[in-house]
Amino acid sequence: MKVDGKHFRSIWRERDGWSVGAIDQRRLPHEFVIARLTSCEDAAVAIRDMLVRGAPLIGATAAYGMALAMREDASDAGLTRAYDTLVVARPTAINLKWALDEMRRTLAPIDPVERAEAAYARADEIVEQDVEINRGIAANGLKLIEAIGSKKPGEVVNVLTHCNAGWLATVDWGTATAPIYLAHERGIKVHVWVDETRPRNQGASLTAWELGHHGVPHTVIPDNTGGHLMQHGMVDLAIVGTDRVAANGDVCNKIGTYLKALAAHDNNVPFYVALPSPTIDFAVHDGIRDIPIEQRSGVEVTDMTGRTADGRLETVRVVPEGSPVANYAFDVTPARLVSGLITERGVLKPDRASLAAAFPERIAAA
Ligand code: MRU
Repeated sequence: MKVDGKHFRSIWRERDGWSVGAIDQRRLPHEFVIARLTSCEDAAVAIRDMLVRGAPLIGATAAYGMALAMREDASDAGLTRAYDTLVVARPTAINLKWALDEMRRTLAPIDPVERAEAAYARADEIVEQDVEINRGIAANGLKLIEAIGSKKPGEVVNVLTHCNAGWLATVDWGTATAPIYLAHERGIKVHVWVDETRPRNQGASLTAWELGHHGVPHTVIPDNTGGHLMQHGMVDLAIVGTDRVAANGDVCNKIGTYLKALAAHDNNVPFYVALPSPTIDFAVHDGIRDIPIEQRSGVEVTDMTGRTADGRLETVRVVPEGSPVANYAFDVTPARLVSGLITERGVLKPDRASLAAAFPERIAAA
């Protein structure tokens, strides 16, 4: 997508052909900084420290991390070490394990002298596949927005989203934002309610930044505002992303998603989840019970960073010294609260049969 008129993806191979460039998302919206990853360890740290984040981008970064590792040591032991280093970088987004499994499946059977080249080729494929998938999500999600738009001709379609499931969270286009970008490009009047998404503010810092650069009308709201807006008919539909969808259709996403789904259910607001198929985990049968929920540093809750009027970045504490804090990064929305799953193969019912029918090859591999 465009940043100040220039096309960017969230991750790419640098001109040297082997190192990897990525936008340092920790610095947005204040600074646009590009990081260069030159080792498997760099990729693991980038994922762990959230220089890159968002389920599909975590997977893409891990794939390039494997390629970087194969330059360092392409032996069987090197392959195993790289896999083991990367797979623990973050626990919840299943795209990480999916990408690493894809890489290992490609690399394990071939001669170590050919592994580095093959690793870059497969990582490039994973990256291109993500962009293609998101185009499919855009087309399928667009129909939902069009349907709502056709019921209120000339009026704005109001979409609520949580966290950042935009192009920064993927390679390009995004998942939840893909239908919104396409609708905007097609001239449909859309407006996005952007949940700020404490504690790391991915909505306020990243989604708002993206939408702003793309000219999509939006309003940043405190996380607790959605219910009020829904009660007053100010939200036509919610579209969120996800870090893992269980085989039964339960949806794991950024903390607070569940509360939005409850409010949507209570107010008859359609609640859709946009996802690429690598986000489905057919090995998990009950999302609430079995998806591991990342717990992050309490500093994300106690402290907030922002830019001062004179342009300095400043971190301030907003919680009394000594008060304990909890920082669960994700929650699980039960399938019964989800109106539909927007995938590259259509909008599916959130249940085992529909997921299995749409992605039989994934079932076979699980
Ligand atoms: O902790 P993050 O910023 O990696 O969490 C991101 C999300 O929860 C996104 O909504 C999800 O990964 C979907 S991204 C297309």
